[in-house]
Amino acid sequence: MRVAVIGAGVIGLSTAQSIYEQYHERVASLTIEVYADCFTPLTTSDGAAGFWQPYLYDKGNHQETKWNKETFDYLLNCLRSPDAIRMGVFLQSGYNLCTESAPDPSFKDIVLGFRQLTERELEMFPGYSYGWFNTALMIEGKSYLPWLMDWLKQRGVKFYHRKINSFQELADSGAQIIINCSGMRSGELQPDPELQPGRGQIIKVDAPWLKHWILTHHFTKGTYNSPYIIPGSRLVTVGGVFQLGNWSEKNQSSDHKKIWEEACQLEPSLTHARIVEDWTGLRPVRSRVRLERESIQSGPATLEVIHNYGHGGFGLTIHRGCAQEAARLFGEILKLRHWETKSHL
Ligand SMILES: Cc1cc2nc3c(=O)[nH]c(=O)nc-3n(C[C@H](O)[C@H](O)[C@H](O)COP(=O)(O)OP(=O)(O)OC[C@H]3O[C@@H](n4cnc5c(N)ncnc54)[C@H](O)[C@@H]3O)c2cc1C
Ligand SMILES: *[C@@H]1O[C@H](CO)[C@@H](O)[C@H](O)[C@H]1NC(C)=O
Ligand SMILES: *[C@@H]1O[C@H](CO)[C@@H](O)[C@H](O)[C@H]1NC(C)=O
Ligand SMILES: *[C@@H]1O[C@H](CO)[C@@H](O)[C@H](O)[C@H]1NC(C)=O
Repeated sequence: MRVAVIGAGVIGLSTAQSIYEQYHERVASLTIEVYADCFTPLTTSDGAAGFWQPYLYDKGNHQETKWNKETFDYLLNCLRSPDAIRMGVFLQSGYNLCTESAPDPSFKDIVLGFRQLTERELEMFPGYSYGWFNTALMIEGKSYLPWLMDWLKQRGVKFYHRKINSFQELADSGAQIIINCSGMRSGELQPDPELQPGRGQIIKVDAPWLKHWILTHHFTKGTYNSPYIIPGSRLVTVGGVFQLGNWSEKNQSSDHKKIWEEACQLEPSLTHARIVEDWTGLRPVRSRVRLERESIQSGPATLEVIHNYGHGGFGLTIHRGCAQEAARLFGEILKLRHWETKSHL
């Protein structure tokens, strides 16, 4: 049984891991291969701040809230493991600030110690009149991706540095099931008009005195188009912009200026921080994550594809729940096709 995963961001690697965990003992000679034209530290997942928080409201998409929770609970459990540091997982508390009162976010029962901000807390943030405090997790791609790759390599998963131009190409080389975790840049494989780039630019700074994350929400400006400050294990991420439909991966000096001025207003001590670098990435935005099976007829052969992409600005936040679901879909294909197994599925 040969499985080809396209993509080595957090989604591709974690999906390969879940498939290995669930099936390596049950499927005779399971071979997992990962194909990607970018590996860590060059994927979108590496550049992301690595903060666990979905958008404030799931807009009725309870399935995604469930996957977010599964990921949070999984990572919380990992904290007890000696590997937690290498994985890039740690707890961190902070503030969500709003300019007006708002309903509780969909994640309020997932995070730890969720509560409304007090008057005294709000006094620290002029311009904001409402908000919440809670403890959440960090899961930094720059640590987590190398950890995942090591984990997979130790278990015999093979990595290929290659751009894939068609699913057929993988089928021709013997793959029986293809897992599509190609993030944003893969319309060529089969265009998806629902998938759009949500351009983000951030500034990484050296400001070790900042210990809490601060996210602001201006409901008229849209998600992540207003200042946020997220301390990481080494550097602090300062954002942000969210430009839907913009494919530019260049750092823009006007965006840098806007981000920096607004962030310094929110957190005046930032003026003393040393700016280390800018980074621009494209969030794979979709009305909802595409996580489903598809059988593609190709001559006499049927290609089995599992799609797992479109995780917008919350790919690290949701990855494990989606990986587990993709692995479950993998099991459905095995059953349907009566593929050889060592024991019953
Ligand atoms: C500024 C910014 C900040 C963010 N902050 C956070 C955050 O704090 N928390 C959070 O949860 N999320 C955050 N995100 C969102 C997060 O980065 C994404 O949701 C996530 O990285 C998507 O992961 P992915 O594996 O799908 O894609 P990627 O990480 O982009 O990986 C895609 C992979 O597919 C490969 N690939 C694509 N096409 C092909 C092809 N044709 N052939 C071969 N390989 C191919 C690429 O080489 C790459 O390996 C942020 C995003 C941005 C832009
Ligand atoms: C594979 O995923 C990409 C997004 O990463 C999408 O654009 C493409 O349509 C998908 N391929 C197929 C065959 O659906
Ligand atoms: C996209 O962003 C780049 C960089 O900020 C900018 O130069 C360009 O004008 C933007 N394009 C669109 C269509 O908004
Ligand atoms: C953005 O700026 C950083 C340094 O701050 C640089 O490493 C990176 O290459 C720049 N990106 C582009 C596309 O110019």
